[in-house]
Amino acid sequence: ARLTVREKALERRMLRNLGLVEDRLLACVREPSVPVLADVAGHLVTAGGKRFRPLLTLLGAEFGDLGRPGVIDAAVVSELVHTASLHHDDVMDEARVRHGVASVNACWGNTVAVRSGNWLLAKAAQLSAGLTPEAIPLQAEASERLVRGQVLEFTGPARPEDRLAHYFGVVSDKSASLISFALRLGAVQAGAPHGVGKALEQYGEHLGVAFQISDDLLDITSSVGESGKEQGKDLEVGVSGLPMLLALEDVYPGDEELRGLLGRPGGVQGEDRDRALALLQRSPAVDRARALMTERLARARASLAPLPPGAPRRALGALCDFVASRTH
Ligand code: FPP
Ligand code: MG
Ligand code: MG
Repeated sequence: ARLTVREKALERRMLRNLGLVEDRLLACVREPSVPVLADVAGHLVTAGGKRFRPLLTLLGAEFGDLGRPGVIDAAVVSELVHTASLHHDDVMDEARVRHGVASVNACWGNTVAVRSGNWLLAKAAQLSAGLTPEAIPLQAEASERLVRGQVLEFTGPARPEDRLAHYFGVVSDKSASLISFALRLGAVQAGAPHGVGKALEQYGEHLGVAFQISDDLLDITSSVGESGKEQGKDLEVGVSGLPMLLALEDVYPGDEELRGLLGRPGGVQGEDRDRALALLQRSPAVDRARALMTERLARARASLAPLPPGAPRRALGALCDFVASRTH
């Protein structure tokens, strides 16, 4: 699509600010004087990542006064909390690859991965403490929800029939919380009106759930070369992504073999995993998961209505298309 003059100016501003975020982020994680932290803390940050959360913080700030001090630091906080959560997540999911490189736990073991994750979270809190007074409560809420979502994912639903409701609760806490936080942090730091924060919160919740559904789909459809993560990892560890949960519902006549494999406690490994992955790729459950993602994206778009029209609002709309067509 052709960009308007305002959209081009926004793009230039975003690129310039993302460059500043990058410098500040690297300075934060490279600072450690503790030898092991010096290597570990920057491992994932230097390996890659989309910088999706800092982008959201900068877009949130576009609804206020972007020139206010602390906006760049706010975007750095979003990425630090995210990276901390990845250190811990890869331990829990026994993931060996992240951002196309060996995960922190694969390189240094679980203890170092957890401690360095804690260090990154503490570093984020230190930066937040220098921001607007609303930053710390927002970060505390997001961190609490992240951990709650992760714990609930691990414990599973209380009753089997609650599987889908449980999934949406988990995803909202483990993924949408951080997306919504990133947006709101930018808005409060830039002094945007209260109503903007509320709209961004709604939008972030829906976008975040859609983002996690797309992540679940990528686990099934995307190779390690594309996603930077091992394919079929959710199946292997027994984490239930949305396509698996839908396949487990007794509605698709062709899915009996798949249901047998997915019903096993502790996940499926080796040839069983490959078989489950192949069956899942062909299952109508994948299309249904995609449809539920599209529905969430429509809700995210609708949440943008109260925001002032302009290039930043259009950019948030365009992010919905990005999530819909994500390959990594
Ligand atoms: C990725 O999900 C993981 C998250 C979105 C959140 C992880 C949260 C924690 C580990 C709680 C600890 C939090 C902090 C702040 C230290 P996924 O495993 O479905 O996605 P993946 O495919 O990227 O691994
Ligand atoms: Mg996980
Ligand atoms: Mg994971």
